[in-house]
Amino acid sequence: MPQSRITCHAVPTRKATNITRVEHRISTEQREARNRHRGGVLWFTGLSGAGKSTLAFGLEEVLFNRGYQVYVLDGDNVRHGLCADLDFSHGGRTENIRRAGEVAALFARAGIICISAFVSPYRADRQIARGAAPERFHEVYVKADVATCEARDPKGLYQKARAGEIRDFTGVSSPYEPPDAAEVVVDTEKQTPKESVAVLLAYVEDKFS
Ligand code: ADX
Repeated sequence: MPQSRITCHAVPTRKATNITRVEHRISTEQREARNRHRGGVLWFTGLSGAGKSTLAFGLEEVLFNRGYQVYVLDGDNVRHGLCADLDFSHGGRTENIRRAGEVAALFARAGIICISAFVSPYRADRQIARGAAPERFHEVYVKADVATCEARDPKGLYQKARAGEIRDFTGVSSPYEPPDAAEVVVDTEKQTPKESVAVLLAYVEDKFS
């Protein structure tokens, strides 16, 4: 696996001129008071096949049934619309995560819990996503190593990547930088999905109440 590239893909310079920020009349705090919980971003990062989507949708269902305002932003889905113009190059991923981070921050400011499930392999990109909602950002490392994800291979992508049919595939021909200070770690090699969802539910009940 190649070393993480040193190139830094920074946040793009704003191109528009003659724009002024306007204040909302309803604050995030008012929205949170109505929802009876805090808004925020639960940012899931991990390899393809680590279990991000399974846990994101599992947690969403549990939280929804308990009355939380919650919505999942999932990489595979977002890449069909908002990010349909982006590839899996370093720059493409950086822009993907920047956009997703901005959207997740909008949800958070709307008083909603946004569960974001993106491989987001670069630490610097995750930092940029955190910067979009610094007070309300919680990084969740969905941990499983390449060998485990490759054995699961739910979409057959590792097999294709090994056969050279997919370039820049995370964990095979493109790097993954694990978080060094995630707020939560769920180890899907050791835990069942139900156990991991229980850990995440307890975290939400603690931090978002
Ligand atoms: S990210 O790296 O930019 O965060 P994102 O989460 O949006 O990636 O999309 C990852 C999903 O796209 C994977 O779960 C997998 O299904 C699919 N995929 C297709 N090509 C690749 C690739 N080269 N590397 C990683 N995932 C890929």
